[in-house]
Amino acid sequence: MEQTIYRGLEGVHIDTTTISRIDGQRGELIYRGYDIRELADKASFEEVAYLLWHDDLPDRAQLDAFHAELAPNFTVPEPVFEAFRSMPAATHPMHAIRTAVSLLGALDPEAEGVDDANVHRIGLKLLAQFATFTAAYARIRDGKDVIAPDPELSVAANFLYMLNGEPPTPAATRVMDVALVLHAEHGSNASAFVGRATASTLTDVYSAITAAVAALKGPLHGGANIGVMQALEEIGSVEAVDGYVVDTLARPNGRVMGFGHRVYKVVDPRALILKDVAKHLAEESGDSKWFEMSLEMERVMDREMAKRGKQVKPNVDFFSASVYRMLGLPRDMYTPIFAVSRISGWMAHLYEQYANNRIMRPRLTYDGPLGRTFRPIEQR
Ligand SMILES: CC(C)(COP(=O)(O)OP(=O)(O)OC[C@H]1O[C@@H](n2cnc3c(N)ncnc32)[C@H](O)[C@@H]1OP(=O)(O)O)[C@@H](O)C(=O)NCCC(=O)NCCS
Repeated sequence: MEQTIYRGLEGVHIDTTTISRIDGQRGELIYRGYDIRELADKASFEEVAYLLWHDDLPDRAQLDAFHAELAPNFTVPEPVFEAFRSMPAATHPMHAIRTAVSLLGALDPEAEGVDDANVHRIGLKLLAQFATFTAAYARIRDGKDVIAPDPELSVAANFLYMLNGEPPTPAATRVMDVALVLHAEHGSNASAFVGRATASTLTDVYSAITAAVAALKGPLHGGANIGVMQALEEIGSVEAVDGYVVDTLARPNGRVMGFGHRVYKVVDPRALILKDVAKHLAEESGDSKWFEMSLEMERVMDREMAKRGKQVKPNVDFFSASVYRMLGLPRDMYTPIFAVSRISGWMAHLYEQYANNRIMRPRLTYDGPLGRTFRPIEQR
């Protein structure tokens, strides 16, 4: 029987969800009914994480209680730092982050339970600890001391504090908060899907999140923000952007990192917000090179794609690269920062998956040889 094959699972709906909705035609993203533009403008990352986990925004008392639950979890067990110290300095930080999640599972005597209470307990722990171990890894591989978290600070402020060793300015904290809000959740993207598929075997939360981190690392997913900055650094000037884009597109399967999206075909609303943030930072800091190169890249991509009858627009990773650069964050930490935020969305998906589970088991259509005759090894 002829089977329909959905390559890349395009258009396949694996379940219903109440976490978020992407409208690719209108360029709209909502988290539990709230427009991302309003959340980025007005909400903190903690409010958004609460929203993703508890269906609605918290009131003041609920937010304070949420922070009080998170604060004791900021501290990461020492064996995680020992593992980081044992890694070569050139280790891709996403290997370190993935290993940290896996190790936290090994260190947790209650790791196995997938009942609601245990999943929430581990979710709080991971949400708090992603910021701590990500910042710690950046310092350890640079030969610096680990900075202990400040339980009074928000996730955004704590992350910058633990990375740099000094309290961040309110403006830097706000930019970090906006970036974390925008990266928190995005439906059935590759890493959330992998996390859900892994959880669907009823394995533990740490295993599912380890798998999600592994998927995020790839250059077609969260790894693209590192690719964007690598490209901008390689290009070096606004004048050289045109040639770079044209040459890249001329190569077989040539991809310009930070452009294109499976679902958004008109505009990625997160890219629009980050573009504004990048513009603002460029004006404030006087370091406008990265933003100007990004604008030029967007212009040349529009022109080149129009020639091919396509629309391939900037995605979330495109302007986040120059935003992080202007915040002074190390390039190879861009994807880990994505993970510091996305752990909130991954956990929301695991809550949904464990609460109404069916194992994920798609099919492949066999297209290989049939009826072969086995020959003993001496005769092959
Ligand atoms: C995100 C991405 C993986 C989506 O993949 P997808 O839904 O499978 O879309 P496709 O790869 O089929 O792309 C559709 C068309 O647009 C083109 N296209 C898409 N993204 C492109 C890019 N970044 N550069 C150049 N061309 C691109 C493809 O060549 C393809 O053309 P074709 O139909 O003639 O083959 C893809 O756009 C990409 O590789 N982007 C770069 C990596 C990136 O920024 N990832 C972060 C995503 S948030």
